[in-house]
Amino acid sequence: MIKFEKSVDRRDTDSMKYDGVEDLYNVKDVIPMWVADMDFAAPQEVISALKLKVEHGIFGYPGNTFKYYEAVVNWMKRRHNWEISEDWIFPAPGVVPAITAILEEITQPNDKVIIQSPVYHHFYNMVHKVGCEVVDSPLVERNGKYEMDFEGLERLICNNVKAFVLCSPHNPVGRVWSKKELQKLGELCLKHNVTVISDEIHNDLVFKPNKHTIFTEVDPQFVDNTIICTAPSKTFNLAGLQTANIIVPGENLRKIVGEKFSKVYNSFPNTMGIEATKAVYKYGDSWLDELLDYVERNIDYLQEYIEDKMPQIKLIRPQGTYLVWLDMKEVDTKGLSAFEFTLQNAKVVAEPGEKYGGPSSSIRLNLACHKKTLEKALKQLSSALQSK
Ligand SMILES: Cc1ncc(COP(=O)(O)O)c(C=O)c1O
Repeated sequence: MIKFEKSVDRRDTDSMKYDGVEDLYNVKDVIPMWVADMDFAAPQEVISALKLKVEHGIFGYPGNTFKYYEAVVNWMKRRHNWEISEDWIFPAPGVVPAITAILEEITQPNDKVIIQSPVYHHFYNMVHKVGCEVVDSPLVERNGKYEMDFEGLERLICNNVKAFVLCSPHNPVGRVWSKKELQKLGELCLKHNVTVISDEIHNDLVFKPNKHTIFTEVDPQFVDNTIICTAPSKTFNLAGLQTANIIVPGENLRKIVGEKFSKVYNSFPNTMGIEATKAVYKYGDSWLDELLDYVERNIDYLQEYIEDKMPQIKLIRPQGTYLVWLDMKEVDTKGLSAFEFTLQNAKVVAEPGEKYGGPSSSIRLNLACHKKTLEKALKQLSSALQSK
């Protein structure tokens, strides 16, 4: 736990979260709780592995990277009970560029792609970038928990829908989808010949007793129309190392992804990403378990604070991810969106609900921060709510 208390100064380190925010919103002295990266240093094993590589001093093309693939295979087996084969893994510089490339390959302009709002904003960008149309099947909130709208989905899946980009676990509403929900969704996609691109970048970040299920493990029938996107980046705070793994168990889609990636990425991972991934997937288990504990305590603290001092805010408690979705429609924001109100009056940078296709009365907050950062942010927010 102690390691997550240690604060590291992130200003002036080319950090999007800290330095980028000043330009983006023209602000200073704010508490950044927006983009999904954590305020915690990566596991010591990563730092040591990267130091060794730096001291070696040569950063040429990687090759024969079997230990990298072995690390990915072992992690999936150990953490997800998922048996995969090395040749199912396609490294990519990120999940977003990978999904964009895949969509480009499996769709034609004007085809339709389904997503479920409110959802990670790049889902919209990726679909638009390849000239396709977003078909939104909004999630429905019931008693503080978001659910899929299967009846709506059934109506929306029509001939021109080629792909479904699933966010599992879901950013920003924090759902860890149950096997039953995924089964229903998978059957619907199968029936309508829709390829499922399952973005599982948050799949290691799940709080007990919830359990993440890899989409192709729900039902063997789903193997042939599903692509699974994973990465160590959210789990271990390595986004700047730009290393993701797209895993394709089905032979036909594997051929399509393999050919596309060999055109766009040359299909080898980033040198530093290789070292970091090998280190975290081999030694990162206890770090991750402690991280989940720490983040869950932050969520508990937030929940208690809201119940006690800001009951007009409704917390959608996440089952996974370190992101929380706050419904502020009962707050008097003086005509501002929840995001603007929080920024201007509390000096806290959240993410605007509307960025995710949600209401402007919602915000997303990143709780992968030190407890004292959270305490300060909540104090500022509750003072903002009280001042009239
Ligand atoms: C659901 C989801 N997919 C993808 C990404 C980004 O992936 P990458 O940095 O590997 O492109 C994020 C980042 O927050 C995310 O939440």
